[in-house]
Amino acid sequence: MLFLVVDKSVFRKQLYKWYDRNKREHPWMLHKDPYKIWLYEIIMQQTRISQGTPYYERFIRAYPTVQHLANGHIDDILKLWEGLGYYSRARNLHYAANQICQDYEGRFPSTSDELLKLKGIGKYTSAAIASFSFDEKIGVVDGNVYRVLSRVFGIAEPIDQTNGKKIFDHLAQVLVDPKEPAHYNQAIMDFGALQCVPKQTQCIKCTMHKHCHAYTNDAVQSFPVKSKKLTKKIRYFNYLVISIDQKIIIRQRLHKDIWQLLFEYPYIEDQESNELKKTKIKKWLTENLGYTDKFEWKNEQKVFKQQLTHQTIIGRFYKVKLLSKPKLSTPYKQIDVKMITKYAFPKIIDCYLNDNSISLFD
Ligand code: ADE
Repeated sequence: MLFLVVDKSVFRKQLYKWYDRNKREHPWMLHKDPYKIWLYEIIMQQTRISQGTPYYERFIRAYPTVQHLANGHIDDILKLWEGLGYYSRARNLHYAANQICQDYEGRFPSTSDELLKLKGIGKYTSAAIASFSFDEKIGVVDGNVYRVLSRVFGIAEPIDQTNGKKIFDHLAQVLVDPKEPAHYNQAIMDFGALQCVPKQTQCIKCTMHKHCHAYTNDAVQSFPVKSKKLTKKIRYFNYLVISIDQKIIIRQRLHKDIWQLLFEYPYIEDQESNELKKTKIKKWLTENLGYTDKFEWKNEQKVFKQQLTHQTIIGRFYKVKLLSKPKLSTPYKQIDVKMITKYAFPKIIDCYLNDNSISLFD
């Protein structure tokens, strides 16, 4: 049994008061099409609404229905996703679109339990689709909701522990408005995104502040509580921008690691931040491209950094010019330099490509 420091009807009343004044229009609201809601929610888990909306619009234009998405090519889907990060979400979208077409005759499952069976659809997304589209009485829980509930109700259970997750999920189900679950869920999502923000909160303007446990105890920054500190691994990628005439060598990441199915320049990974030696490049060319002829090389003297959730990637770029043709096999391929924009690359390579002070070829 949960003892609530704020009555659920008071919580909903204050939440709706805030929402009436601050509600945002989301593009799926008019038709409540589950496919559009799904796309929207998966994209917006990555980014803020303002940054995610152009992605959402491009996806809907390219793939107006779940059938279009299922029939799309994964390389094109990844290209549309480029820049959003967490590329497994885009791969899962494609996979789940095929599941819907094959196992559900192209019709979206209408309950959260059925939705949970689809690849990449977890508790949050299933609850969002089921409530927004089908009015299921289920409360959404995501990072925003953890923050709101932990502050208002003063719950100090760590949100990254099984027990804490259970408590927050239970509370979300107690609080959801059985008459208007979609309205309630959208209100708490917008409230968490716009009002009850992680830092620099403007609590005095909040309709909830007199009832909020964290505010009345001067402890807003102490919630939510987390038990683990993220430890980040640092990886050093020495990228080889290998050219032969006007062609450039790229490869697709097929192995189990970050950025699966994205394209990239081949790289030599190092445990430390060292400059590559010519002997290492020579060895790499022999072992991977069967290339033993002469080559020219140059360190671009540019270092780019990409921060992922669990890893920091430090990338250095070296130009390598081959003087004869290498033997290429999967995952390597040679493309015309003008075609480079057709491929989806990790952000670190996009940064390199967008850096005007670097010329791709001499
Ligand atoms: N972030 C992700 N989904 C959202 C939604 N439905 N409303 C507001 N912010 C969101």
